[in-house]
Amino acid sequence: MVRIRVRSEQPGDYPAIDNVVAQAFGRESEARLVAALRDSSGFSAELSLVALLEDQVIGHILFSSIIVRSQEGPASRALALAPLSVAPRWQRQGIGKQLVWAGLEACGQKGPVAVIVVGHPEYYPQFGFQPARSRGLEAPFPVRDAAFMAVMVESGNKSSTWPPALQGLVEYPAPFGIV
Ligand SMILES: CC(C)(COP(=O)(O)OP(=O)(O)OC[C@H]1O[C@@H](n2cnc3c(N)ncnc32)[C@H](O)[C@@H]1OP(=O)(O)O)[C@@H](O)C(=O)NCCC(=O)NCCS
Repeated sequence: MVRIRVRSEQPGDYPAIDNVVAQAFGRESEARLVAALRDSSGFSAELSLVALLEDQVIGHILFSSIIVRSQEGPASRALALAPLSVAPRWQRQGIGKQLVWAGLEACGQKGPVAVIVVGHPEYYPQFGFQPARSRGLEAPFPVRDAAFMAVMVESGNKSSTWPPALQGLVEYPAPFGIV
């Protein structure tokens, strides 16, 4: 496994992140999503992490704030994991895995929080993600049950129990309309 260093993004990383995200997905949409989310209220630079190999950005992961709107009770804050990118020549060497673990740890620093992802159903369960619909969450767009996943995290990378009240429609901020 290639050992990387993970830290929060800094403004000087923007071009390299843009490049890694576009290369990983083979198109520009997700890089535009990252730029748009950076300008949105749900963004926190602490939760935009880069994977560094000898000071070169070779991967990136972003978590941004979203809302779970319950039918009864107040809305809750959650985090959306999107996008996750590893530069093609560095894929399948454990870099994505290290980024996800470091990211979930960062997410849980301020207390337990739900993290929601729409992604590969073969990849995310290793981090504790389970189908979000089984938790009572609904996506605002069509998505396969298995690809819409969620986990509760807290510091120490413990996945904690799901609060029964945390159910409802997941609201993504406008930039997600790009992808
Ligand atoms: C998905 C991605 C982030 C994983 O990062 P990584 O560093 O390559 O992954 P890891 O080395 O931690 O894990 C490798 C495992 O991930 C899974 N995996 C990797 N890419 C995958 C893909 N495109 N589809 C499904 N599973 C994939 C496989 O199980 C793989 O194990 P294997 O090599 O034994 O087959 C990376 O491949 C990538 O940037 N892909 C393009 C963009 C993308 O799809 N992002 C995720 C959107 S949810």
